[in-house]
Amino acid sequence: MALDYRRRVEEAAAYIRSKISDVPSKAIVLGTGLDALLSSVEVLLEIPYRDIPHFPVSTVQSHQGTLVLGIINSDPVLLLRGRVHLYEGYDAQTVTLPVRALGLCGVKTLILTNACGAMNPEYRAGEIVLLKDHINMMGHNPLEGPNVAEWGPRFPDMSDPYNSALRAIVRIAANETSIPIHEGVYVAVVGPNLETKAEYNMLRLLGADVVGMSTVPEVLAARHMGINVVAFSVVTDECFPDELKVITLEDVLRAAAKASPKLIRLIQSIVPRL
Ligand code: HPA
Repeated sequence: MALDYRRRVEEAAAYIRSKISDVPSKAIVLGTGLDALLSSVEVLLEIPYRDIPHFPVSTVQSHQGTLVLGIINSDPVLLLRGRVHLYEGYDAQTVTLPVRALGLCGVKTLILTNACGAMNPEYRAGEIVLLKDHINMMGHNPLEGPNVAEWGPRFPDMSDPYNSALRAIVRIAANETSIPIHEGVYVAVVGPNLETKAEYNMLRLLGADVVGMSTVPEVLAARHMGINVVAFSVVTDECFPDELKVITLEDVLRAAAKASPKLIRLIQSIVPRL
C-alpha cells in the first residue's frame, strides 16, 4: 500500500515536472467558494486534474479540478483549484496526494484556504480566520501506514504546524491592508453533514473556534514533508447552538463570495513575502 502510494505520488510529480520545468516554491489550495482568487492571478498554464496521473477528482460541483501555474503580484505560484475530501469516500492518503506531489516537485510553502463554521461567538459569517492550530477529529490520518522516510519522519512534530513566523507576516499584511482577521483553532471533522447543536457545543468546549471538513490532512502531509503552512478559513456560517439556523450550500457559497475580495487582497499582499 505504502509503496503503491509512493509510486502514485512520484508519477503525479513526474507528470507535473514534465509540464512545468520551473516549479514555483509556493502553492495555494482554493477551498469551497474561493475560486474567485483566480481573478487576481495571471494564468500561464492550467492542467485538469484528470490529466495528472492518480490525481483524485472531486465529486462535488462546488469544487473545480485544475492545477494552475500563475503569477500573483509578480511571483510565480501553483494553485490547486479544488480539493477532494474524506467525505467523498477518498482515504486520507489520496486526499493528500496533490500536496505530496507538489512537495516532491519542490514546493516549500503552502497556503490553504477553506470554508468553515464558527463556534466562537465573536466571529461572523464573511470574516477571515488565520489558523493558529488544529484539532484532528476526523478519525483518519494521512500519515497512517508505513512511513516513507525520504519524505519525512515517522513521528512528525506538530508544536507549530501553522508557522508562527509566517503568521506574523500575515498579521502585518492584514494591518497594512486594513483587512480584519481573527486567529483561531480549527477542528476537522469528516462530514458531510453539518453538526448538531450538541456537537457544536462539544467542539467549542474542546477549544476550537471554527469547524470544517478539510485542511487538516493536507497540513499533516505538508508538515511531514517539511512544507511550511499558512491556512485561512472563511466563516461561512455561524454555529452558535442557541440560535442555530438551517445552513444550505448556497449560504456557504454566498458567505465565501462575500469574503473573497478581502482574502484575495490579503493573499496578493503576502505571497511575495513568504
Ligand atoms: N461544519 C463543518 N464544516 C463546515 C461548516 C460547518 O458548520 N461550514 C462550512 N464547512
